[in-house]
Amino acid sequence: MLKGKKIVLGVTGSIAAYKAAEILSLLKKRGAEVKVIMTKSAGELVHPLTFSALSGYPTITDLFSPYDQTEIKHISLNQWADLILVAPATANIIGKIAHGIADDMLTTTIMASKLPVVFAPAMNKNMISNPIYQENVKKLTALGYEFMETEYGPLACGEIGEGRLAKIEEIVSKVEDILSFPKDYQGKTILITASCTREPLDEVRFISNYSTGKMGFALAKVAKARGAKVILVSGPTSLSPLTGVKTILVNTAEEMKEEVDRYFEEADIVISAAAVADFRPKEKVSGKIKKGNNQRMFIELERNPDILAELGPKKGNKILVGFAAEAEDLIPNAYKKLREKNLDLIIANDISIKEAGFGSDKNIAKIINKEGIVVKELPLMLKTEMAEQILDEILNLINK
Ligand SMILES: Cc1cc2nc3c(=O)[nH]c(=O)nc-3n(C[C@H](O)[C@H](O)[C@H](O)COP(=O)(O)O)c2cc1C
Repeated sequence: MLKGKKIVLGVTGSIAAYKAAEILSLLKKRGAEVKVIMTKSAGELVHPLTFSALSGYPTITDLFSPYDQTEIKHISLNQWADLILVAPATANIIGKIAHGIADDMLTTTIMASKLPVVFAPAMNKNMISNPIYQENVKKLTALGYEFMETEYGPLACGEIGEGRLAKIEEIVSKVEDILSFPKDYQGKTILITASCTREPLDEVRFISNYSTGKMGFALAKVAKARGAKVILVSGPTSLSPLTGVKTILVNTAEEMKEEVDRYFEEADIVISAAAVADFRPKEKVSGKIKKGNNQRMFIELERNPDILAELGPKKGNKILVGFAAEAEDLIPNAYKKLREKNLDLIIANDISIKEAGFGSDKNIAKIINKEGIVVKELPLMLKTEMAEQILDEILNLINK
């Protein structure tokens, strides 16, 4: 919820400008106060009066207003607000900010800002795929500006493709995410592994497990929202990419190990939420194994590297956190794993509980520390809520 939060909504000259009225209404419904800045082009598409009436504040359209000369608006707006949302955002405004141009009220306000800035782009599919636009987004993302993903579908020009404004509900929930979390992970780098691994038998088959990546992605999302630099190494997953999270997709345990080793040095914290296969087929057959006349088939397996255990001895001051999915003797088994791998915390999941675990949006767990003490009992809750609790506990350790 956005009670007490103040938002500057920038509306630019996209055909989706009319949707900004709905965004404004939803932001207000969630409790936010909103002041609107419109670009000149946006004013050609929707009348500023719409936003004045909905927001309860005069819509700001001019950098040099002849009517209101008592304050320097682009500064005072930044002092007033908690966040700037540009929705819809044209290719033009993104290009201008990427190049430091401040030639109207909205660009000048953004250039003078230290607030979180979220762009929700909307444009024709050729504009989206234009490498100039892509470069601009890349540059701004690296500088900490947040971007909503556009949607695929019918566009105003009659074509079908990428470029529709993200769903209004999703834009508002992104704003909520950013404003609801403290930035207590600022300056920290977290390396997170997620999902399963796939161990190939031949070129069409593999051995894997039911892990979908939801817990690892939830951790990455919340850590990012709390200000961390997040590197996510994920096995195969159907989850949508997370904006602002450097994500490396891998298949096998060996590939995951290679990527984890690559980023280990720069991480302050490593959270291993992936369900890495313990074994892999000894031989990978090229092509496809034929069933022939065989009634049975034997596959010889060999050990995969234990990624987390190999990090233990070289962890230095880094915090290492693992997960233990156990079907019995939850706490003793999880604690044994913590000691064997030299972890700081272990999150023990009881996989015999139906509503929780693999594939579910919810989870139940206990957080166990180095002394074998259950420091937190986490009842059935959303994985994003659990991610918050785990990150709180890691921060407690760091600040001890
Ligand atoms: C009817 C119409 C619809 C437009 N829709 C978009 C759009 O969806 N996205 C976009 O980037 N530009 C769009 N444009 C082009 C922008 O309005 C143009 O680039 C303008 O300079 C943007 O200015 P602003 O970024 O200051 O608002 C549209 C133009 C017209 C005439």
